[in-house]
Amino acid sequence: MSGHEASPSFEQVFGRPPEYVVRSPGRVNLIGDHTDYTGGLVLPIAIDRAVIVAARPTEEAFVDVRSAHFRERVRIELDEMTADPAPAWSRYAVGVMAMLKRRGIKLRGAQLWIGGDLPPGAGLASSAAIEVGIALAMLTAAESLSRNWFTDEYDRLGSRSHSGLGMGTRMNPPPDELASLCRQAEHEFADSPCGIMDQLCCTSARSGHALLIDCQTAKTQAVPLNLGNTELIVVDTGVRHSIAGAEYAARRRECTLALEAIRRADPSITSLREMILDGLESFADALGDTLFQRVTHVVTENSRVARAAEALRASDLHTFGRLMTESHASLRDNFAVSCPELDTVVSIARSVDGVYGARMTGGGFGGCAIALAHADAVDTLRSAIRESYNSQYATRATVFTVRSTDAARVE
Ligand code: GLA
Repeated sequence: MSGHEASPSFEQVFGRPPEYVVRSPGRVNLIGDHTDYTGGLVLPIAIDRAVIVAARPTEEAFVDVRSAHFRERVRIELDEMTADPAPAWSRYAVGVMAMLKRRGIKLRGAQLWIGGDLPPGAGLASSAAIEVGIALAMLTAAESLSRNWFTDEYDRLGSRSHSGLGMGTRMNPPPDELASLCRQAEHEFADSPCGIMDQLCCTSARSGHALLIDCQTAKTQAVPLNLGNTELIVVDTGVRHSIAGAEYAARRRECTLALEAIRRADPSITSLREMILDGLESFADALGDTLFQRVTHVVTENSRVARAAEALRASDLHTFGRLMTESHASLRDNFAVSCPELDTVVSIARSVDGVYGARMTGGGFGGCAIALAHADAVDTLRSAIRESYNSQYATRATVFTVRSTDAARVE
């Protein structure tokens, strides 16, 4: 969905057109899941499906937010930071506004319409896209306030137009800071102890590249996405498990417990990131079976991400695909975050000639799997999913191709 398509919807709700539109992309993680919150490596791309926030600043002391997806409208009071009514999705909006305020940004009233074509809860980082989208919409409104009120000072410090990424302006925090502010909003207001991958991908990705993130330092590197004549196919299983949130938090806790157990045996180790496969066996007794499996996933997945980035640089898609498939097996067997529907999609994809590799992507327990397929194999893959998956499960799978895009921007 383009920003232009959002304008009529905004006008229908608020009676006049928006002043600007923010495009905030979802992500597909190519490889490296459940590694970000232990300081590991991840390799996502921002995709051409996005949350769109259409906006118009007002002189009111509240923000009027309309969610097209949930067909709900909430009013957020800027001095109290409360939403009325307060549906679950509004927590992201309130959280981001509270974090911007905490950072000393003087927020301004606004009318916001949130829509787009990124399915929520599908493991494509819709929460991060909403957070970053709202943050940029509110920062842009705040900056237009400063332009009106403090024109001289603004000119003296040097203004910048809102074309481009919309970040790094005088008032706007740089991409890594904006990402951690949004993650903090999610931790405090949505009760979700997520890592930094989704927000950082949304604020820092580049079209034509995957983003290699070292989550220990939050340093990013753009890796050219040399996909040759292959395509990246997303298969949304349609499964939205309610256990996902609790299980995610449980895995995170297990990783903390694992590090504590390892440190009791060897206090020189400060992070799971330092662990390598060689020698892991010596911690088997200290960890016990379950924690040993969890650490095995984290350690092998970090190594797979590093090798996958190298394979991508060298356009070695066979190696890249093989690593994707190995990653899925480890998420399923060692980290236990897959589900029968995701496993079925991956095994259907692997049975199709011309598919280099397939895996679940994101948090798991439902949501999406991805496959790297030769362009000639895409139609066969679609029909295979339609025939085998849709006849086995009550939910219907949706199959679509994704392309890499730039980070969130104000249009
Ligand atoms: C969710 C979280 C991310 C990351 C993935 C799993 O998307 O938001 O931080 O942990 O799960 O890789």
